[in-house]
Amino acid sequence: MTTPDYHISETSELLSPSLIVFREQLERNLDGMIAIAGSVDRLRPHCKTHKMAEVTKIELARGLTKHKAATFAEAEMLADVGVKDILLAYSLVGPNLKRAVAFRKKYPDVLFIVTADDVGNLRRLSETMVAADCDIHVLLDIDCGQHRTGLVSSEQAMDVYQTIDDLPGLIAAGFHVYDGHQHQVAFEDRKAAVRHEFEKVLKMRDDLQSKSLSAETVIVPRLVCGGTGSFPVYAEYDDPTIELSPGTCVFGDASYGSNFPDLKFPAAAVLLTRVISKPQGNRITLDLGYKAVASDPPAGKRVVFPKLPGAEQVLQNEEHLVLETDKAGDYKVGDELIGIPWHVCPTSALHASAYVVEEGRVTGEWEVTARNRKITI
Ligand SMILES: Cc1ncc(COP(=O)(O)O)c(C=O)c1O
Repeated sequence: MTTPDYHISETSELLSPSLIVFREQLERNLDGMIAIAGSVDRLRPHCKTHKMAEVTKIELARGLTKHKAATFAEAEMLADVGVKDILLAYSLVGPNLKRAVAFRKKYPDVLFIVTADDVGNLRRLSETMVAADCDIHVLLDIDCGQHRTGLVSSEQAMDVYQTIDDLPGLIAAGFHVYDGHQHQVAFEDRKAAVRHEFEKVLKMRDDLQSKSLSAETVIVPRLVCGGTGSFPVYAEYDDPTIELSPGTCVFGDASYGSNFPDLKFPAAAVLLTRVISKPQGNRITLDLGYKAVASDPPAGKRVVFPKLPGAEQVLQNEEHLVLETDKAGDYKVGDELIGIPWHVCPTSALHASAYVVEEGRVTGEWEVTARNRKITI
């Protein structure tokens, strides 16, 4: 794995704090993701990591036609750049029911899929669709142990899937199988845990199929599975209905870099920051508060500085990050540092745009298109 040196030839006009995408690394990460999947057809990358139309265009150019989103803004961004197969992996409630109708009307040629796990809610979705003379594809959300959303594989879950199939305006489109809790550092341990849960899902799929009156009709046409840590496990199944939905690996970040040593996705999106003060002998203060890098717990670990590996993050406020380092003497006010965000997905959402670096030079700026919750719909 080549780790980028994050060199930029001219930085004097670059604002800090800012987000910087190293395009060659982004493209290497996309190629690495496709290599693990075995083919572009098996992938449905999640755009929540980058939220950028320009990144989506690069993915489309590689033949990645199926995409995943978590918000209507992300789904709209995908549709606007020409994606024709969009999964909004979220349960629609409140005004989002009507937003689904607006989305279907604005993009009639897009295959639009959502997730659900509640019969009352499915009825409301069905009524909303029928009233608008529309239909929508729905995945049953399965709980594989994260206990965030979804139903555990069971007779009850099968009944709910049957309800999706029966309700007018809804098209039963398969299962959604997300397992973001599988963080085992050793790949073999992660693989065993993921497979253990997934075998139950496959059994439920097979049970539903065997109950079907017609053997030709595929009852569960797709299983949308996993994130960065688990998609290599699902990729090992020889089953064309399995789609892999990693997100973070497109940019990579410090957290996944240390949590998943088997996966080689160096950070493609990093932060430029400058020293704004040197309040005490061994302290340097950077313009990198938690309005510029995600404030995931634990404090003190929100960013990694490749050039200052031993620096301790002793205080962070909205616009300040204070480091204690025995290298403080090497830095003066105005000096620059590159930081790798611990968690890139919420970090990119904190920036309106990102500088793009190619061959060591800034070649443009990309908007973080879907950072807001609403574009037009
Ligand atoms: C539903 C869903 N699918 C896919 C992903 C992508 O996972 P990862 O960020 O680990 O690649 C996420 C991440 O939060 C998610 O919530």
